[in-house]
Amino acid sequence: MAKILLETLKGNPGERVPFWFMRQAGRYLPEYREVRATAPSFMDFCYDPAKATEVTLQPIRRYGMDGAILFADILVVPDALGQKVWFESGKGPQLDPVREEDAFSKLSFGHFHDRAAPVYETVGRLRASLPAEVTLLGFAGAPWTVATYMVEGAGSKDHAAARQLGYGNPALFDKMLQLLVDATASYLIRQIEAGADAVQIFDSWAAALPEPAFEKWVIAPTKAIVDKVKRAHPETPIIGFPRLAGAMLPRFVEETGVDAVSLDTGVPLGWARDEIQSKVCVQGNLDPHLVVSGGQPMVDEANRILENLKGGAHVFNLGHGFVPETLPENVGLLADTIKNFRR
Ligand code: CP3
Repeated sequence: MAKILLETLKGNPGERVPFWFMRQAGRYLPEYREVRATAPSFMDFCYDPAKATEVTLQPIRRYGMDGAILFADILVVPDALGQKVWFESGKGPQLDPVREEDAFSKLSFGHFHDRAAPVYETVGRLRASLPAEVTLLGFAGAPWTVATYMVEGAGSKDHAAARQLGYGNPALFDKMLQLLVDATASYLIRQIEAGADAVQIFDSWAAALPEPAFEKWVIAPTKAIVDKVKRAHPETPIIGFPRLAGAMLPRFVEETGVDAVSLDTGVPLGWARDEIQSKVCVQGNLDPHLVVSGGQPMVDEANRILENLKGGAHVFNLGHGFVPETLPENVGLLADTIKNFRR
C-alpha cells in the first residue's frame, strides 16, 4: 500500500489529504499518562525503546493518522553531547547552562551515538510494527532552538541568554551551533538508517530574530543539516518548522532546501498558497486550542484550511503541538473531518 504522507511530502499529492499532529503522543491521552507514570524520569522514558514505541503507536491505533512521529525529545541531543538535562514537573526542562568556554569544552560528540542508541532502537521497532501505509517520521530540534535551552538552562520567553551570547561571544556561539549541526545531521542520518521515512527539524523559537541573526542562526545551520542529510539520503524528505518566522518564511524555504515546511498558526493561507506552496509541500496549521474547545468551530476551521490548500501538496497538521487539556474525542472528530475531505 502506498504511503500517502510520504508521497505528498515528495510533492505528489493524491485525492485525500494526509495528516498527523505535533505532540500526538502526549498527556491528553490517558493511555500515554499510564505509560508515562511507569518511567522513573522523562529522559528515561525517551531512552526506553519498549515504552517509547508503545506511546508512538497509541494515537495511530485510536485515530489512524498517516504518520507516526518517533517519541523522544529535542533535548536528547544536548543530553547525548554530555550536558545534564532533566525535567521537573511544573518547571519544564532544566539543563546545566553552557555560557562559557569551560562548560562548552566538556561537551563532546564522542559517546553521542552510544547514548542515543535506544532512540535508534525505537525507530527500528516502529519500522517493524507499523502498518505498511503509515509513514514513520524521525525528528530533531534545530540548532538555534536547542541552543536556547542549552544556554539558558531552561525554557525562556525571549531567549535572552542565547541572544546575548550570540551577540556578545559570537566565536563561542558559532562553535556551539557547529557542534549542533554536526551532531544533529548525524543523529537524523542514523534515524533514517534505522527506518525513518522522513524527518522534521523543529525550530520552535525562530520568532522575531533580526534579519542577520535569522540568517546566521536559523537559515545557515538548517541548510548545513539539510545538505549533510541529503548527501547521505537524497530521497528522504526533510520538513522544516521555523515557527513564527513570519515574513522570513519564503527565504527559509528557498535557502535551506527543505522539501516541506510546517506552518505555524499565524501564517495566512492565501499567502502560504502563493508564496510557499508553489515551491514546496506545506504542512499545517490548525490552532491547537481549537481542539480543546472542539465542535463546529473546529470543523469549520479545519475545512477552511483544507479548501485553501487543496491546490497543491498539503499535509494537515496543527500550527503547534496539542496542549495537555485537549479532549480525545475532539481529536477523533478532527481526524474524521480530514479523512472525509477530497481534493
Ligand atoms: O510530537 C510527538 O508526539 C513526538 C514527541 C515529541 C516530544 N517533544 C515529546 C514530549 C516531540 C517531537 C517533541 C519536540 C520538542 N520538545 C520541542 C519542539 C516542538 C515544540 O513543541 O515546540 C520542544 C521545544 C521540546 C522541549 C520540551 N519537551 C518542552 C518545552 C516540554 C514541555 C515541558 C512540560 O513540562 O510541559 C517537553 C516535554 C515533552 N516532550 C512532553 C512530551 C509528550 C510532555 C512531558 C511529559 O509527558 O511529562
